[in-house]
Amino acid sequence: MEKSFSFEDIMQLPSRYRANLINMVSGVKPANLIGTKSKTGHTNLAVFNSVVHIGANPPYLGFILRPTTVERHTYENIKETGVYTINQITTAIHKKAHQTSAKYDREVSEFDAVGLTEHYQNDFHAPFVAESPIKIGLSFQEEQLISCNDTRLVIGKIEHLILPETAILEDGDVALEKLDTAAVAGLYNYYKPKHLGKYGYQKP
Ligand SMILES: Cc1cc2nc3c(=O)[nH]c(=O)nc-3n(C[C@H](O)[C@H](O)[C@H](O)COP(=O)(O)O)c2cc1C
Repeated sequence: MEKSFSFEDIMQLPSRYRANLINMVSGVKPANLIGTKSKTGHTNLAVFNSVVHIGANPPYLGFILRPTTVERHTYENIKETGVYTINQITTAIHKKAHQTSAKYDREVSEFDAVGLTEHYQNDFHAPFVAESPIKIGLSFQEEQLISCNDTRLVIGKIEHLILPETAILEDGDVALEKLDTAAVAGLYNYYKPKHLGKYGYQKP
């Protein structure tokens, strides 16, 4: 038996249930930690499941930010300093990474609170996560306010890309299965993705 929800049915669901249902149905997502540091030197780390490829030439990544109706430390630090890092979550650190979603005070560093290590490289102001195999330093490029629900698409330019040489294949692909990559669906469920195959450029 299938269950079918109309838009009206969805809007009438209890909010937590609706959030879970709608967050899950678009499938498994990348799991990343965004690292920032305020001008006054307070570091911040938060888990995001919405990091998305915007383009490779030049290299841009985006993520979706929830409405700024409450304090959004990651966003504030990005706007204040212009830089941030995106760090891939592994199965080894996924529980610590998840804990960064708690609402810590501005003065509290989630690095210390959850036990992850700040790592600095290339004179970049924003902290990388030492435990992450793929570390990306970005500069804020632009943001698009999505007017239908007041979320924002925040786009950054890749300034630094740091990853193990052994995981980079001859054609530039990255063997994620060698990096203990974790994935996330919705807000509460983590996965270990399995590589199913690699298929060439398709012609009709
Ligand atoms: C698995 C998971 C994924 C999340 N993805 C996002 C996201 O894509 N965008 C967002 O704005 N918040 C997302 N959040 C919520 C943030 O992690 C949470 O609001 C966090 O407290 C933000 O921290 P900050 O105020 O220090 O920036 C996610 C939470 C979890 C648990």
